[in-house]
Amino acid sequence: MTRTDGYLLDNRQAEAAERFDAFAALFDPTTFRHLERLGVGAGWRCWEVGAGGTSVVSWLAKKVGPTGRVVATDIDTSRLTPAARPPVEVLVHDVAADEPPEEGFDLVHARLVLVHVPDRERALRSMIDSLRPGGRLLIEDADPAMQPLLCPEDHGPEQQLANRLRNGFRTLLAERGADLSYGRRLPRLLREAGLLRVEADAYFPLASPACAALESATVRQIRDRLVTEGIATDEDIDRHLANVAAGGMDLATAPMISAWGRKAPEETGG
Ligand SMILES: C[S@@+](CC[C@H](N)C(=O)[O-])C[C@H]1O[C@@H](n2cnc3c(N)ncnc32)[C@H](O)[C@@H]1O
Repeated sequence: MTRTDGYLLDNRQAEAAERFDAFAALFDPTTFRHLERLGVGAGWRCWEVGAGGTSVVSWLAKKVGPTGRVVATDIDTSRLTPAARPPVEVLVHDVAADEPPEEGFDLVHARLVLVHVPDRERALRSMIDSLRPGGRLLIEDADPAMQPLLCPEDHGPEQQLANRLRNGFRTLLAERGADLSYGRRLPRLLREAGLLRVEADAYFPLASPACAALESATVRQIRDRLVTEGIATDEDIDRHLANVAAGGMDLATAPMISAWGRKAPEETGG
């Protein structure tokens, strides 16, 4: 067993960098809007869980400045090294198995991580435990079952092939323990964990060049598994990649649900 067992998409493969760039293009504006609203600023101590690439970590580092701290953790930190300088510390860490790296964070954030973690209940508890009283939690995760299509307008054979392959990808994720309806559960889970002022919203693009980049990198990364598990043939995959590259399809993603709240202050009135 390695610590990355269960996670389908290995960060060391070349396509991982393309996927992280696409996540940044598609989701950073939403993430940064939520982080701004939560008040992240100079001197804050932040934990970025399952950080993946550097875009969110670098943004947080600028916000917290030299008096703050950003602890960036992942089971695979190979794409995080360029961000590893003060105020950022990069650590190999499994959020479902290891103790929190520190206590007393002002902010803990995880994006598109927990859906992949089989023991996501323990992971969420650990993140909440690591907050200081009054600290903020922002969890952003996909809900592929809420909007399962790569091409919501399923109007021709290219789109039908795209949606068939997307269905296969979901099967692979589910076989590895992903919860494909996780996003919608987040507000209730945060409330039941005792967080206050819990709110949530959802965002997904319906047509964007970054969706095509994400799809191409993802399919190239998992093509062997799609073929060996009988979900698609090499010809299907080549045809789909060519359709994506031709740019004639409108591609979407699963909705990303952002849910946030704050830990109760120690004393009332805070
Ligand atoms: C889909 S990527 C998202 C990356 C980044 N958060 C973003 O939004 O661009 C999922 C990330 O979670 C990491 N990951 C998966 N399981 C994990 C675990 N148990 N503990 C910590 N990180 C994990 C992966 O290595 C990967 O970097």
